Amino acid sequence: MTVRAVREAIPLARPVLGEAEEQRVLEVLRSGRLSLGPLLGEFERAFAGRVGAQHASAVSSGTAGLHLALRAAGVSDGDEVITSPFSFVASANVVVYERARPVFADIDPVTFNLDPDAAAAAVTDRTTALLPVHIFGYPADLAAFERLGLPIVEDACEALGAVDVDGIPVGARGHPAAFGFYANKQLTTGEGGMVTTEDAEIKERIDSERNQGRAPNMDWLDHDRLGFNYRLSDLACALGLAQLERLDEMLAGRARVAAWYRSALGGIDELDLPCEEIGRVRRGWFVFVVQLPRGLERDGVVRALRERGVPSKPYFPAVHLMSYYRERFGHREGEFPVCEDVAARSIALPFFPQMTESQVEQVAESLREVLGR
Ligand SMILES: Cc1ncc(COP(=O)(O)O)c(C=O)c1O
Repeated sequence: MTVRAVREAIPLARPVLGEAEEQRVLEVLRSGRLSLGPLLGEFERAFAGRVGAQHASAVSSGTAGLHLALRAAGVSDGDEVITSPFSFVASANVVVYERARPVFADIDPVTFNLDPDAAAAAVTDRTTALLPVHIFGYPADLAAFERLGLPIVEDACEALGAVDVDGIPVGARGHPAAFGFYANKQLTTGEGGMVTTEDAEIKERIDSERNQGRAPNMDWLDHDRLGFNYRLSDLACALGLAQLERLDEMLAGRARVAAWYRSALGGIDELDLPCEEIGRVRRGWFVFVVQLPRGLERDGVVRALRERGVPSKPYFPAVHLMSYYRERFGHREGEFPVCEDVAARSIALPFFPQMTESQVEQVAESLREVLGR
């Protein structure tokens, strides 16, 4: 038997689910109140308390949260919203939903977040909002964006547990911030999301628009504005409440795995690792993404890792170079050189809280072999 054959297969991501989740979900099933029941408010209050926000609105996905937060910020037809091209496509898509234009600006080469100077240079008289993304759980430089004096919507979908350079938890700064609870996130409800805000009127608007524009007091069929079905079921809220109770433990698990990766991969000179936390910043660890050496054929690396039982994936491709964005907005290579360089070299490695040190070593050893180091 070859060494390769005895290696265990490692998943790319895996949620932490246990008896507490089962118990909570079963209670909802037995109660018969599967949606718009008591757990919706309970989950929202617990989440707001955890993040240190005034209010929270649970929604069916991070995308739904971003969409409603942008509407609450007043974005509409023909407006421009400045955002990062190095993100999951949802952060640009939500701008297009409102018939506005996503205006990309380049990213910081260290943190991979939207560069405030590049964003400032992209402001026009049609700019109605800024949509910074806390990419890979590293907080964006919000103080710099605030100086631009425009409404801000934070894409915090990857950043639960992060703390910014001013020591403020992501989601507690007051701007609407959308979190995502897809299965690979720090906290999962399968699919789901949450918007935090300090503004009671924004909460009220989001609560109504997630429920077809129905009045928040639930007056039957009093739909006084356009809305959507972006509700989060009580089953999902039950899962979220159980996950919230173990959030510290899960975040600590992710930070532990990241530290193992850092020491296991530190010896590979040409590999760039996620940036260190600056000052009071705490990354809310979401993924472990490394930058391959320039000139290396990334797909070949991904294939060779897969053959060794190690899944990985290019993460993220640049949004402006996706076919839809090229065709609709005429984007081309060369517009955002930092983003394009980072996007061309990034791969996400297996990363989840229960990962063991020996699994991390197995990934590191495979990567070393593949890179010929
Ligand atoms: C940066 C970013 N924005 C938005 C989203 C959208 O979240 P969801 O998949 O919950 O709609 C995600 C999630 O994958 C994300 O990573």
